[in-house]
Amino acid sequence: MRAISRGMGEPRSFHAPEVYGREAIGKIARALPPVERLYANVRFSILRPKLLSVMDLLLPDEGRILDIGCGFGLFAAYFGQTQPARRIVGVDPDARRIAMAQRVSSSLGLENEFIAGDARDVSLGGGFAGAYVLDVMHHIPRADQLPMLERLRDVLAPRGVLVVKDITTEPHLGLKFTELMDRAMVGWNEPLAYRHHREWGEMLTSLGFHVRMVRVPDVLPYPHVVIAATKQ
Ligand SMILES: C[S@@+](CC[C@H](N)C(=O)[O-])C[C@H]1O[C@@H](n2cnc3c(N)ncnc32)[C@H](O)[C@@H]1O
Repeated sequence: MRAISRGMGEPRSFHAPEVYGREAIGKIARALPPVERLYANVRFSILRPKLLSVMDLLLPDEGRILDIGCGFGLFAAYFGQTQPARRIVGVDPDARRIAMAQRVSSSLGLENEFIAGDARDVSLGGGFAGAYVLDVMHHIPRADQLPMLERLRDVLAPRGVLVVKDITTEPHLGLKFTELMDRAMVGWNEPLAYRHHREWGEMLTSLGFHVRMVRVPDVLPYPHVVIAATKQ
């Protein structure tokens, strides 16, 4: 394998993990108890390899990276394995999920850390190289979405990248399918506030981000969109 010096004594690895990430996903699943393992297998079959790889390549390959709404920490464990110089800081209001996330990452030897709290007001510090919000923005009440994105901008270092993976509102049938699946998970009382990808683009641009995005169609009709917003 070819490596060059990174100037700080660390050799840069040009190892390209295989796109399916099967090895990384298998290790995560094995670190979980049976019910959560089942959930992880379902989740990784929805968040297909091509989607994860798009996000993986958009996120910085080192430094502190925020995972907002990290749940059981599946993706902190995934992105931590694909680039071991990342230090992922996961945030979720569910203390049980946070404890599980910490256990999974620690059992894989990753130096990730996890905070139980609401991303809208928990203390986060600053200077993050990147942040990602994976299928979480539509769980945030509509009126709180812009302030939350603003908050994430403020905790990023200059040129930091915010990656938002969410569900766009077209095609309409895809949205309805997603809503049904989400309702099966969260019930009927929790607000679900999806937006068209154009709206996310406009909001992020109004906050001073440089925005690019790609829609990722798949076998299942989820209308996935991945948005990369770079702090100027
Ligand atoms: C659909 S799950 C996604 C979990 C994980 N990102 C994934 O893709 O598997 C949504 C997560 O967002 C979390 N969440 C909801 N509101 C939040 C908030 N205000 N701050 C941080 N996390 C939040 C929930 O607790 C839940 O774990």
